[in-house]
Amino acid sequence: MSTVVCPGSFDPLTLGHVDIVRRAARIFDEVIVCVAYNPRKKGMFEVGERVAIMEEEFKDLPNVSVDSFSGLLVDFCSQKNAVAVVKGIRSNEDYEYELPMAHVNKRLTGIDTIFLPTSPGLSFISSTLVKEVFAFGGDTSEFLPASVQQKLLEKK
Ligand code: PNS
Repeated sequence: MSTVVCPGSFDPLTLGHVDIVRRAARIFDEVIVCVAYNPRKKGMFEVGERVAIMEEEFKDLPNVSVDSFSGLLVDFCSQKNAVAVVKGIRSNEDYEYELPMAHVNKRLTGIDTIFLPTSPGLSFISSTLVKEVFAFGGDTSEFLPASVQQKLLEKK
């Protein structure tokens, strides 16, 4: 049974994230989406809100569950008996950002990271840009699941 963990800040969940989780769910037996703490990023949605958003978004996928964790990702993976971490890669910049984390995680517990290229039509979307566009009053609906767009508007 192959259990993998899809970690991220997911703040907010974008169509790019949805693409990666749905494709991972077709490849692996069980996918645990984990809202993990990124000390480099400031949050917009509370962690509990992000978990609830993703539970709703992936409720049609019986092999996907959503959780959160505030410690080291590798410890979460060990607790869940995960065989690998799955991350989406949009660009060279993503690869350069992700590769050191993959190596550190491998050194810490031996867990591997599998990179899935984001579908081309979605590879320009990032939570950071969505937050910026939203902050300046732009339309973010093209980049987000409808439920997330709605939640964002409610935050106004
Ligand atoms: O979506 P993000 O912000 O790029 O995801 C990064 C995240 C949250 C997966 C990463 O920061 C992480 O793994 N945080 C948990 C703490 C941890 O294990 N840090 C060491 C990483 S080598």
